[in-house]
Amino acid sequence: MGFRNDFLWGGALAANQCEGAYLEDGKGLSVPDMFLGGTATKPRTFCPKTVDGAFYPSHEAVDFYHHYKEDIALFAEMGFKCFRTSINWARIFPNGDEDEPNEAGLKFYDDVFDECAKYGIEPLVTLCHYEIPWHLVTEYNGFCDRRVIDYFLKYATTCFKRYKDKVKYWLTFNEINCAMLGADAMALYGIGMIPRDLLTQDDPVTFDKFTDDKQARFEGLHNEFVASARAVIEGHKINPDFMIGCMIASMCFYPLSPRPEDMQDMLDTEMVTNDFCGDVHVRGEYSREAMKFLERQGIDTSYMTQGDLDLIKQGTVDFYTFSYYQSNCVGTSEVDGENISGNIFGGKPNPFLKASDWGWQIDPEGLRYTLRKLQGRYPDTPLMVVENGFGAFDKVEDDGSIHDPYRIDYFREHIAAMKRAVDIDGVNLIGYTTWGPLDIVSAGTGQLAKRYGFIYVDRHDDGTGDFSRSRKDSFYWYKKCIASNGEDLG
Ligand code: BG6
Repeated sequence: MGFRNDFLWGGALAANQCEGAYLEDGKGLSVPDMFLGGTATKPRTFCPKTVDGAFYPSHEAVDFYHHYKEDIALFAEMGFKCFRTSINWARIFPNGDEDEPNEAGLKFYDDVFDECAKYGIEPLVTLCHYEIPWHLVTEYNGFCDRRVIDYFLKYATTCFKRYKDKVKYWLTFNEINCAMLGADAMALYGIGMIPRDLLTQDDPVTFDKFTDDKQARFEGLHNEFVASARAVIEGHKINPDFMIGCMIASMCFYPLSPRPEDMQDMLDTEMVTNDFCGDVHVRGEYSREAMKFLERQGIDTSYMTQGDLDLIKQGTVDFYTFSYYQSNCVGTSEVDGENISGNIFGGKPNPFLKASDWGWQIDPEGLRYTLRKLQGRYPDTPLMVVENGFGAFDKVEDDGSIHDPYRIDYFREHIAAMKRAVDIDGVNLIGYTTWGPLDIVSAGTGQLAKRYGFIYVDRHDDGTGDFSRSRKDSFYWYKKCIASNGEDLG
């Protein structure tokens, strides 16, 4: 009973949300570098030209680039077995389409992985966590252009060869299913696609100004599937022991009412949101439902060549990972209250759940439901939760302490639910990395005030702060949890 002995406990970050040093040591611009900040109620904006005097949260982020030794030592103090981070593509290939990689960028990640090795921490590396080099966006419209598949593959194989003895666990694209959403920030984040007229824009725009070219979007997503499959195939040639996985923003949906229409709506939403992409990665094919969905959207699927489909079949993933933060309701019934937001997908409020200050509904049982559902759908594929966490405002007391019982409660309940999935439902779960073990820049709002960490970073939305780190109460709680292999959640 309980979590396996080699359970990968740890935390997860993304390069663009923690590193800063956005042009240091030869790094090129990448998509998040072009985003300005926002708040829970004021959306982030984007500008293709640098706006003088504006605060770009990712440019310095929380300066992991210069603090990684201190941060990894703190992770080790908590007992981490695993540290998920991403490589920022634009550190390795600053424009994305160069012939030769940037040695200084490669060296930085050597140092990070060596530091992990000192403490016996297993790195889990995402190749693309919304970090497409900006030049690939302006010149190619990101993955909408098939040539970008080759650039990605070159980048992926460069990393695989360089770190083949330092990194065993890899993920190709973070939350690849964000491309299912529409032509907003997520299509730019995920596929690197942007309406061309916005590239000549002088002033920041909000993402509701983006128009959707569905045909290009689904083609871009397909190209990412091919890129991922080719990376899996080539990665296994470089090191047959590599475990290469996918990463899906997994959302748990409930029908808003027992009305039969709401149930159908729930099934549709689950297919589009979760299963469309998961099936391609794990089963190596578009499901019949997925093809029907594309047909209903009026997509001409002749871009799916037989060669592509063969690669997708051959390059299936070794494990399935996902982010889980919340659940939503869907359906056509009338409901009181505003729609709620989420890390990617929104929905209608559930009267039985409480929500965070950002309106994300807290639902530990939904994590168990998600694990059960995934295990049923992909019975032979190991699962890993690679993002789960609670964004909140934290207060530093006069004596410097930070009391965050709300965060401890969130983790206690979610880990307990995960344990039920393992003990009662027999889910093959290999690890758990909490989101943002260190406070970082929020992807959705660009805020630093939305804090996820066990470790507080003195950095604020007005650009002040000295980047010093301190331990919150949750730091000691998670340490105890890991030391007991998830048994002591008190
Ligand atoms: C996930 C992303 O969607 O949610 C992360 O992979 C992101 O990059 C996380 O940070 C939490 O969302 P937010 O908007 O609170 O940062």
